[in-house]
Amino acid sequence: MIRVFYAGLLFLLCGSFAYANPATVASWKKLAPLAALQQPEAAKVALGQALFFDRRLSGDGTVSCAVCHIPDEAFADGQKISAAYPTNKHWRHTLSLLNVAYLDIFFWDGRSRSLENQALGPIHSSFEMNLNPRFLVAKLREIPAYRQLFQAAWGGEVSIERIVAALAAFQQTLQITDAPFDRYLAGDQQALSAQAQRGAEIFFSERGGCSRCHSGSLLTNQGYYNLGIEELPALVSDPQHRTTRNFFLAELGLAEMDRDPGYYAISRRSKDLGAFRTPPLRQVEETAPYMHNGSIASLREVIEFFNRGGGDDPNKSALLKPLNLSAAEKQDLEIFLRSLTGTYQPVRAPRPPGE
Ligand code: HEC
Ligand code: HEC
Repeated sequence: MIRVFYAGLLFLLCGSFAYANPATVASWKKLAPLAALQQPEAAKVALGQALFFDRRLSGDGTVSCAVCHIPDEAFADGQKISAAYPTNKHWRHTLSLLNVAYLDIFFWDGRSRSLENQALGPIHSSFEMNLNPRFLVAKLREIPAYRQLFQAAWGGEVSIERIVAALAAFQQTLQITDAPFDRYLAGDQQALSAQAQRGAEIFFSERGGCSRCHSGSLLTNQGYYNLGIEELPALVSDPQHRTTRNFFLAELGLAEMDRDPGYYAISRRSKDLGAFRTPPLRQVEETAPYMHNGSIASLREVIEFFNRGGGDDPNKSALLKPLNLSAAEKQDLEIFLRSLTGTYQPVRAPRPPGE
């Protein structure tokens, strides 16, 4: 565990040196196309898919994973702030699950290090699915159709470890392929228009600077930065949003706050206040609105935001500076971001086992 942590740290450090080097920045054409991940066994995926869509994974039987990670919304939800367990309000923007299996660090604040560990979060959370995982195991054991699915996938009984492993297996299948950017990297010169190529030059240049943080084939270094994103007024003033945030903080042993602390809640270093994990930009065209609180509505506005040098926060990353991009350059950058969109297998909700 500790070794993994240091390896990650080393990776981040090396990553930031590599991207401070202009020679590396200019060589974006040598990036590897997104490589397909090995697919888990079909029986595990089928079980994971059944669980993902099953509302019985929540306390009152109304909330499944798919209620917030909607297949037709690129496995995000198109809202600023996520849906929540009935009668509650969430406090963060839903992350898309496309390509999630390529990541090493999960959530906006990186508080989980594996897909398996991550899945326990929403099931247990009072403001998401609100179900005691041990009670979930007891419930599924009484459903013969589920017992069969667990036998087929694991040759054994229902257990919490197998529930989260099956959910992870299903999520490993949510990959995009065939984005124009990947086709271009694989050698198809026609795959990117001249405009998209100019946009890529800006993105990966010293001047545009996007690849200092959005690096590699997935376009994230998985590092944490404060961009000076404004807090949504409702998150500060609405008692239900406030309750959720302060409960989240209290669970981590932190005092109440009137802002999202971001990675600070995990690292406890003041420099991480308001810093969030750099999101991957694959499929970003389909996951508006943007940022940890959904406060930026469109790609055009995201580009305007970075062009201004980000927002206003004493803790803002020194990597953000006004870019002075022309209207045509901003347009090129947007066309490049849209070239990151690939296709993925449509996923349908299976009939809930035993119903
Ligand atoms: C009530 C809405 C809701 C439900 C239900 C929900 N999620 Fe999420 N999910 C979110 C939100 C919001 C985030 C971002 C939260 C954060 O970063 O603090 C998220 C983040 C994630 C992430 C991290 C993605 C990344 O890029 O790091 C994964 C993986 C995930 N959810 C999987 C699941 C699974 C599996 C289930 C069902 C067991 C589930 N979610 C149920 C709202 C929900
Ligand atoms: C200092 C590191 C850094 C730099 C430089 C940077 N970004 Fe980001 N980017 C981030 C972080 C961190 C977030 C999420 C911030 C948050 O939610 O508070 C983000 C969010 C985004 C998003 C929204 C993604 C989503 O799913 O919500 C887009 C689009 C984006 N960046 C594009 C760009 C472009 C284009 C550039 C260059 C003009 C750029 N970024 C420069 C770190 C960076």
